[in-house]
Amino acid sequence: MNQVYEKLMECYESVKDRLPFKPKAALVLGSGLGDYGDQFEIEAAIDYHEIAGFPVSTVAGHRGRFLFAHIEGVPVVMMQGRVHYYEGYSMTDVVLPIRLMRLMGSEVLFLTNAAGGVNYKFQAGDFMMITDQIASFVPSPLIGPNLEELGVRFCDMSQVYDRRLQELIRQSARELSIPIQEGVYVQLTGPAYETPAEVRMVRALGGDAVGMSTACEAVAASHMRMRVCGISCISNLACGMTDQPLSHEEVNETANRRAPLFRSLVTRIISHIGEEQEG
Ligand code: HPA
Repeated sequence: MNQVYEKLMECYESVKDRLPFKPKAALVLGSGLGDYGDQFEIEAAIDYHEIAGFPVSTVAGHRGRFLFAHIEGVPVVMMQGRVHYYEGYSMTDVVLPIRLMRLMGSEVLFLTNAAGGVNYKFQAGDFMMITDQIASFVPSPLIGPNLEELGVRFCDMSQVYDRRLQELIRQSARELSIPIQEGVYVQLTGPAYETPAEVRMVRALGGDAVGMSTACEAVAASHMRMRVCGISCISNLACGMTDQPLSHEEVNETANRRAPLFRSLVTRIISHIGEEQEG
């Protein structure tokens, strides 16, 4: 058996009897949303350390566990803490948790992150609904023998970010009177922030926000035919757009400041996802 698939199935075997329910949606909690799960009754928690071979984040402040809760009645599995390619993991390890949440039953993947704003119309603290992405700067998690059990070799990417979910995001933001930008997310490897020249490159390529995660996860999810949606918290304007140097502290500070609003937006969207799936 293929090693990547074998590892995925081993991880699945070790969690499958601990799931309190079959999740409808999988939610990846990015910077600022780490505590999102605290407001709900957690029905099960599985620490990444408890899953043999599972990639564990090395970034300070990134907790690593799956949380299971009903959010507005919708069964959701949350990833509290993700791993990044720059930590040294292979791309197949980086997306293993996404694949696992799909095997658990999740049909929808809701990605969140903090990202640098590249579009001059954006301000630090804005939210941006991801409408499309550029993942060409990082290796594809689909490189290697195709895992036929998961999806097809040449997978269609014409609508990675599901149009109906995008409409639910717009609707939710409107209902809560939260302004929301829209744009293209570009994943670079990091861990260094971009140079001003790289930021100009991203803008010239049609990017609106830049970050070090997310797009590879959306690729793996598309392969497994999940419906994907995503929101970035624009934690800063990207390098060179202001006079100030960029720091991880600034990124965290803004993401944390915007967290209460981000949390309510995410919850509202999930409640609409629940209604949609009920028909
Ligand atoms: N660049 C890359 N990743 C980021 C940034 C940025 O400016 N802000 C938050 N994550």
